[in-house]
Amino acid sequence: MSMLSDPNYLRNEQYRDAHNLNARMALHERFSTNPEDWHLWVFKQFEFSPDSRLLELGCGPGSLWLKNLNRLSKAWKITLSDFSPGMLDEAWRNLHTSGKNFQFEVIDAQNIPYPDSYFDGVVANHMLYHVPDRPKALSEIHRVLKPGGKLYAATNGEQHMQELDQMVAKVEPGMVANLQKLNANQFTLENGAEQLAAHFESVTMHPYEDSLEVTEAEPLVAYILSMTRHAYQGLHEEKRPALERLVQKEVGKKKGFHITKSTGLFIATKAGA
Ligand SMILES: C[S@@+](CC[C@H](N)C(=O)[O-])C[C@H]1O[C@@H](n2cnc3c(N)ncnc32)[C@H](O)[C@@H]1O
Repeated sequence: MSMLSDPNYLRNEQYRDAHNLNARMALHERFSTNPEDWHLWVFKQFEFSPDSRLLELGCGPGSLWLKNLNRLSKAWKITLSDFSPGMLDEAWRNLHTSGKNFQFEVIDAQNIPYPDSYFDGVVANHMLYHVPDRPKALSEIHRVLKPGGKLYAATNGEQHMQELDQMVAKVEPGMVANLQKLNANQFTLENGAEQLAAHFESVTMHPYEDSLEVTEAEPLVAYILSMTRHAYQGLHEEKRPALERLVQKEVGKKKGFHITKSTGLFIATKAGA
């Protein structure tokens, strides 16, 4: 099993708390060229009636809701869930005093402890590529959705941040695995529609146009180092100074360092409204 979908690694190391994810989000938030914030854009795609019951799987620290607090319908009942208790604790700390109707629950997407046809909407952003038995998770999501209910599932494309692989390969040519190879076999913008169509009646894909122009070394180094256990296993401690020098050189160029982004959102609808 790849580390990208190894539950022990994900729950106990990578997502034990929000430290690694925060390092990655910080890079996107500081250097994205799209002026519209990602979480605001995702929220704008939602089409939920004012009294909906919603479930987020793999909610992480709850950033989607934190950024959109003043846009939530008062009558929404929102269950935020993650299979990492540490992550869920971060979401709870960020949101429990918000005055909104949030519940917090440890849930593995492969086994959702709710009755059939319970939710109007399910959100699963940048998490389905971590799930080992994705067909099981998708059939669970389909089961707990009401007829006509929608799944919103964000993910990345195969070329997402490809420059990082090229950069790491320069300092560690014998790299065992890399981000692009790992992503390609999972749930991507390229292969996601087919996986969703096996469970849902209608599936649409909505790309979010963006790239990064990075002008500071430290956040980019932190981003790469947040993935040394699953994407860059070959990046040994002694190579870090070389990586830092290379990043420094690249971001020091006239317009900074360009990084391709390929990311977007699938909307999958259960038949029968
Ligand atoms: C990349 S983070 C995304 C967090 C959040 N959705 C966002 O977009 O900011 C992936 C999250 O999925 C969670 N996760 C991974 N596998 C999971 C599973 N099988 N069931 C539930 N959560 C899972 C991780 O603990 C982590 O918090």
